[in-house]
Amino acid sequence: MGKKVILSGIQATGNLTLGNYLGAINNWKKMQEEYDCNYMIANLHTLTIRNDPEKLRNNTLNLLALYIAAGIDPNKSNIFIQSQVALHAELAWVLNCYTYMGELSRMTQFKDKSAKHADNINSGLFTYPVLMAADILLYQADLVPVGEDQKQHLELTRDLAERFNSIYGETFKVPEPFIQGVAARVMGLQDPTSKMSKSSSIPNDSIFLNDEPDIILKKFKKAVTDSENVVRFDIKEKPGISNLMSIYSAITGKSKENIEKEFEGKGYGDFKVAVAETVIEELKPMQEKYKELINNTDYLEKIYRQGAEKAYSIANKTLEDVYKKIGMIL
Ligand code: TYM
Repeated sequence: MGKKVILSGIQATGNLTLGNYLGAINNWKKMQEEYDCNYMIANLHTLTIRNDPEKLRNNTLNLLALYIAAGIDPNKSNIFIQSQVALHAELAWVLNCYTYMGELSRMTQFKDKSAKHADNINSGLFTYPVLMAADILLYQADLVPVGEDQKQHLELTRDLAERFNSIYGETFKVPEPFIQGVAARVMGLQDPTSKMSKSSSIPNDSIFLNDEPDIILKKFKKAVTDSENVVRFDIKEKPGISNLMSIYSAITGKSKENIEKEFEGKGYGDFKVAVAETVIEELKPMQEKYKELINNTDYLEKIYRQGAEKAYSIANKTLEDVYKKIGMIL
């Protein structure tokens, strides 16, 4: 039996957070030996908000450099840019015709994002999960490593695959979400009741992957906690400290119990500095490699061109099968 297939992606919006790292990239890196991995830069998905075209092009290449800097090895994994494989948009159109308005209206991310961008609730924002389903189904992915917030989109993807298969016979692999680890939902440092996000408007709420060490330290020092001054895991009563513990645990591999022991009798000040230092050390090699790679545009171009070619050849098999089944002339 061949290796299981993985597909995942991140939007090319710039400003990636520690949430993206711990919820996604860091897990992707570990999966490369065991699985057949496809990692995509989701630049079509970013069109649901208004972008400056030059910035979007830069963000796309920056994200490619970041994947590689984080340890995604182009010799082991297929790395590609979504818009370079036009089949994604084609399958998305087909799947749109098999998706009900009611299903899309229930997506919490659509509700959240339309509240945030009330002046631009476009139909792309509404059908965004269908494009995501197309991304996944084209590659016949078995597993989709994502953070907790993408679970609902994965459920829709599964429903669409099953619906299509039940009408036309076995066409798509029905994928499983692969939500791993203690940091599948990293929360904001200032508002630990909402997820850490690229677009948070609260200062010091998100750690960005390109933050300098002194900024990371400052942000952790300012993180919202509680008045108990005991490092103890309790999401309900102590969401701030629990979030810091999850971050620390995700990077060091230490269990919650061991962390509680390690900081017994010590105050939050010590703990915050320890978490900050761990994060700084974890991000350092990636930040250094990123700075080297980002100017090597020839190398980056070579990677995304070969990635697009490989992606096309996999995706095209699926799309041809779909087109045959639904009555398109090939
Ligand atoms: P995006 O770009 O918002 O996030 C990329 C990945 O980071 C995870 N993530 C988090 N994990 C833990 N804590 C957080 N605070 C946090 N914030 C983000 C997300 O769960 C995700 O895994 N629609 C997707 C991109 C996409 C995609 C796909 C993913 C497009 N096509 C196909 C998988 C498969 C998105 O907007 O993720």
